[in-house]
Amino acid sequence: MSFLKNHKQLFTVAFLFFVALTIFAAIMPALDNQARYTPLPAAEPLSEDARKGKELFIANGCVACHSQQVRNLEMDKKWGGRPGIPQDYAGMERTDIWRNTATLMGTERTGPDLTDVGNRQGSKEWNLVHLYNPRILVEESIMPSYPWLFEYKNMPAKDDVEVSIPDEFRRSSRGTLVAKPEALQLVAYLQSLKQVSLPEDMEAPEFLYASDKNRKKSTKISGGDDEEDDMLEGEMLYADHCQSCHQPNGEGMEGAFPSLKGSEIVNGDDLEKYVEIIMNGYDEHEEYGPMSAVGTIAEFTEKEVAAIINYERNSWGNTGTTVTPEEIKEILNKIQSL
Ligand code: HEC
Ligand code: HEC
Repeated sequence: MSFLKNHKQLFTVAFLFFVALTIFAAIMPALDNQARYTPLPAAEPLSEDARKGKELFIANGCVACHSQQVRNLEMDKKWGGRPGIPQDYAGMERTDIWRNTATLMGTERTGPDLTDVGNRQGSKEWNLVHLYNPRILVEESIMPSYPWLFEYKNMPAKDDVEVSIPDEFRRSSRGTLVAKPEALQLVAYLQSLKQVSLPEDMEAPEFLYASDKNRKKSTKISGGDDEEDDMLEGEMLYADHCQSCHQPNGEGMEGAFPSLKGSEIVNGDDLEKYVEIIMNGYDEHEEYGPMSAVGTIAEFTEKEVAAIINYERNSWGNTGTTVTPEEIKEILNKIQSL
């Protein structure tokens, strides 16, 4: 073993060994993957704004807290309709001579997974306010604020996007808060994050390891007929699907999300309109942005819609009458057959 004493030979052998390992363990599998997987037919390329937003997502360190991968584990079910597959990450393109498109799968989940956040949290207004300061909308949030994506302008131009926030969160007593192009690009990227549906002839892998505890909880909730259970289910569904905008106290946020406390729709007799709003969204008033089709996206059953309505009608001093899943079923049939 003379080469152990010859540093040139030793270095050369170690270097060649390293190159060979890199080729076998990293480069060949990568080329193989690229040849084997193409993006799903329904995948849409990023718009120019969203592409710039993706760069800002990287530059601002969002990937440190947010993953973009739905693992095939039961606990990941809430982040997407199916587990992620290699095709989800196959849309590769060179951004410059050294770099490929980043996939941003992430390794940390301090905040929620963002694979499907464009469907879950698609509102532009919500995202802008949240980026300015997450605590305006989620009181206990530990996500940093990104105020440098916004500015206070004394004379906002016509096409400036104004962001309304409560006074105590303003950082300047003068001017109107408007979103800089960077904020709009970042939000365009967030809105573009939607899990792509599979072609019909392709089967998604299954979610594994459903724990008995989870199973019991879900059967109890969907099969329970006691009133208390229903209220609890309504409260949980409200927390998951409505509270980020309408807030835990039901009061919403001035200039962005209407109050459900004392709302005529929540307390009134037009149940059909109420259900329609929950399932198909609502865009009626100038002062508010649109509400997305929250119920359709979440695939609410009649029982879930009834639980949410009963929760809202029995909270925050509201006084609407209680509804049954049968009444909701009838309305859903009507809405869906239109
Ligand atoms: C220190 C960790 C951390 C960083 C960095 C961070 N976030 Fe968050 N993010 C969170 C946490 C925690 C939540 C959940 C609480 C909340 O909604 O504010 C969250 C929530 C969100 C949500 C709402 C997700 C949902 O399902 O409702 C979006 C969108 C989001 N973050 C985007 C971003 C963007 C864009 C950046 C970078 C500009 C970023 N985050 C940086 C921790 C972080
Ligand atoms: C992304 C934010 C967002 C989420 C999530 C959301 N909403 Fe809304 N909601 C809005 C906005 C914005 C409006 C006002 C739309 C308008 O009037 O143009 C609204 C309006 C309503 C109204 C009409 C209130 C009134 O008096 O005019 C009801 C009822 C309602 N939402 C119920 C719900 C329920 C129930 C959920 C959960 C299943 C929910 N919303 C989730 C943003 C949201």
